[in-house]
Amino acid sequence: MDRLTLPRPDDWHLHLRDGAMLEGIAGESARHFSRAIIMPNLVPPVVTGAQARAYRERIMAVTGGDFIPLMTLYLTETTDPAEVRAAYEDGIITAVKLYPAGATTNSASGVRDLSKVRGVLEVMAEAGIPLLTHGEVTDPDVDIFDREAAFIERVLDPMRRTTPGLRVVMEHITTSDAVAYVETAPTDLGATITTHHLVINRNNILVGGIKPHYYCLPVAKRETHRKALLRAAISGDPRFFLGTDSAPHPDSDKESACGCAGCFTATNTLSILAQVFEDAGALDRLEGFISRHGPAFYGLPVNTGTLTLQKTDTPVTYPARISTGAGPVTVFDPGFPLYWRVM
Ligand code: DOR
Ligand code: ZN
Repeated sequence: MDRLTLPRPDDWHLHLRDGAMLEGIAGESARHFSRAIIMPNLVPPVVTGAQARAYRERIMAVTGGDFIPLMTLYLTETTDPAEVRAAYEDGIITAVKLYPAGATTNSASGVRDLSKVRGVLEVMAEAGIPLLTHGEVTDPDVDIFDREAAFIERVLDPMRRTTPGLRVVMEHITTSDAVAYVETAPTDLGATITTHHLVINRNNILVGGIKPHYYCLPVAKRETHRKALLRAAISGDPRFFLGTDSAPHPDSDKESACGCAGCFTATNTLSILAQVFEDAGALDRLEGFISRHGPAFYGLPVNTGTLTLQKTDTPVTYPARISTGAGPVTVFDPGFPLYWRVM
């Protein structure tokens, strides 16, 4: 098989930022993806329907064309359940994002005490609004490599038990624990998997010198976990779908004494995924992962447009960095040649 035509894919977890960065990088996603779930962790965060609507307009002013940004609200301890319901019913938002306070970039306004958002979660369960979780605890006593597993046990599982009917996406899963948890859950729980977590493990970040462009959160774990993610991605199980978590930062913020978390994969994500799936002998499962499972979870139609990937004899070339008005942004380097070109 050297040519693959699929329904146009969607990205179910994407950071587009705002202003000069948005202008510089949005086209990298809009070129290939039909829709994307847009993360609300701007400064200040997107907490009201009016802010989400205005942000959607700023995105569409940059992307033009057919790209559809699916907006999210940033859950805080003071989020008004009525605001969430109204924004959803007015078609402004598709989901709500839970950041445990302090877990990652711009999460300071996130949730410290889940009991404070009970009312919102109940409304979401009733209205069928998905909750997207950054699945890491922030307890300083928990090792950074254990924070996802601890989140499942201490936060996610109790929350799902006390809020029956709540649809949850565990975002950017990085562990075999998360894969196992999702596999045993009913279909009201889904999980996104990023491109970079299918490619790198923690050695790639740390062996032979620290590689800031491989640092993201949740941080990549050991190789056994990467293999579990790959197994889930190629399994055909509809609960697993692509959310790139492509998260641009200017190089000066990554290559720093306190470097920001985030891998920017929008530019070469589809070439990488085709290569990874082919190398795993699972090219026939790519369509489900990037084009079908996400819409099924969100109750949306599969895109009618198509995208073609062509196998090439010489490696695909792509820019090492994208220049933006906010500074250059390094494109994720998978560390191996890519032989699938998006036509
Ligand atoms: O690596 C990450 N970068 N993880 C996140 O959760 C946030 C994101 C960002 O906004 O840069
Ligand atoms: Zn993210």
